[in-house]
Amino acid sequence: MKSKDSHNRWWHGAVLYQLYVRSWLDTDGDGYGDLGGVIARLDYLSWLGVDGIWLSPTMPSPDEDWGYDVSDYLGVHPDLGTLEDMDRLIAEAGQRGMRVLLDLVPNHTSSAHPWFIDAAGGKGSGHRDFYVWADPGAGGGPPNNWLNATGGPAWTWHDSTKQYYLHNFLPGQPDLNWWEPRVHEEFRQILRFWFDRGVAGFRIDVAHGLYKDAELRDNPPELSGNPLAGRFGQQQAYNANRPETHDVYRDWRRIADSYPAARVLLGETWVGDPDRLADFYGNDDQLQLAFNFPFVFARLTAPDLSAVVAGTLAALPAEACPVWTASNHDVGRFPTRWCDGDQRKVRLALLVLATLPGAMVLYYGDEIGMTDVGVPLELQQDKMSLGSGQNGSSGEGGQNGGSTDGNGWQGNRDRARTPTQWDGSVAAGSTRAAAPWLPTGDSATVNVADQRDDPGSVLSLCRDLLSLRRAESGGQLASYQPLPAPPGGWAYRAGSLTVLANFSDRPVTCQDPGRPILLSTTGATPAAGDAAGDILLAPWQGIVARTAGVPPAPGRR
Ligand code: GLC
Repeated sequence: MKSKDSHNRWWHGAVLYQLYVRSWLDTDGDGYGDLGGVIARLDYLSWLGVDGIWLSPTMPSPDEDWGYDVSDYLGVHPDLGTLEDMDRLIAEAGQRGMRVLLDLVPNHTSSAHPWFIDAAGGKGSGHRDFYVWADPGAGGGPPNNWLNATGGPAWTWHDSTKQYYLHNFLPGQPDLNWWEPRVHEEFRQILRFWFDRGVAGFRIDVAHGLYKDAELRDNPPELSGNPLAGRFGQQQAYNANRPETHDVYRDWRRIADSYPAARVLLGETWVGDPDRLADFYGNDDQLQLAFNFPFVFARLTAPDLSAVVAGTLAALPAEACPVWTASNHDVGRFPTRWCDGDQRKVRLALLVLATLPGAMVLYYGDEIGMTDVGVPLELQQDKMSLGSGQNGSSGEGGQNGGSTDGNGWQGNRDRARTPTQWDGSVAAGSTRAAAPWLPTGDSATVNVADQRDDPGSVLSLCRDLLSLRRAESGGQLASYQPLPAPPGGWAYRAGSLTVLANFSDRPVTCQDPGRPILLSTTGATPAAGDAAGDILLAPWQGIVARTAGVPPAPGRR
């Protein structure tokens, strides 16, 4: 359905910011960030140049999985605030030209959700078919070989009704049964409830999940170890990735498009193949945005990243808006995973993220180069990854390629969920409680306050990049054209910009892109090369120039 004008697609060229609410800013002194804290720092996000904020789960939950186990889809978690706070946040963000996206979890609920409580009451209960129940398999054990995200069986025996129920994640997260039409109707109402309140869209959790194989067939083995090909040695062929799921997104897209200011659907599409990623965009009739995990898991090298970008753009339909991100609350922070804390690499990665055509998603703290924090076992909060390795680096010079855990998260997830480092004071200025819910990182060295005042900081560079992006291509899907580059280099045109990036420890010689040079990650203009028309990029230096003869698109100002 080509119902929407491109001017209505505000997410084209937009900067989205994933904000982990519990770790943002605590205004009531309980050690947890809250919606009041988000409101209090909207001016900061507006100053940074953000177009939209995706809030990590905000709905009531017993927090077995920190909000990804929802017990009420129409409320706000009392730790975080109230519905009125959410309304105020949406309004105040709107006054600053920013939209608010919520995290929606349709693959499973909490076992404390009234639907599951009713379903567990008896085989004949009204909500029994909202969930996936099955009799024991032939040998008397679980119905099939499916595994959950911790590597154990995806089935838990429910003794009082003598059946197993399915949970692709923790036992407290029973999977919904999307073959049941009433589940569809409930979610239509949930979408409308939030859209009517002014929510601009949803990040859809486990977007490749939802439907499960009706015959509950065994998953086939997966031996490559690629975190996007499967988990714990199994392809997720039958417990996720079913074709029927696309019908759900066609339905939701009709709802999103029925609003005068179109609402946006951003999928957590955990797939490795660009054609399968493209399937989630459909014929411009499913998701408008879909996360690109092959990019997240690529190594920080010119050939690897440029290959993912070329492959993605070749596979996506013409009007589809790619999404570039490098950190999140599951996979860790790119300044550690890609950069081993090396500021030159952090700056270069930000430059690439900010100049690729499409939408970019920053994870809170990316803009100051926050790194993962080693959280001691006794302070870890994430049950799903409890005790997993601390470090997201894979040992390949910190340029991660493979998986160290069976689920692809590569370690304990708390490492990337620690409080925002606002300043160098106690608890990094994130709370007045005796202790925040997770320990803070090295806030004496890396914090917003110091970097805000320093024109040479990562934060200043990030803000300059976002401002350049908005001026040159905001509101647009820029064109992309790779340019010749020497080994270690990646050069491309994106709309009116020419980008030259050196992903190596040696200087590289590139063709002079012409003038003006709008930005350099080192702050220095590259030296002239040996031959006329050449320039020399320092190790890990990136520059952005305006392409001669190409005016900027009329971006948002
Ligand atoms: C998604 C979320 C993750 C959560 C899981 C189960 O992958 O990003 O944090 O644990 O879904 O909801």
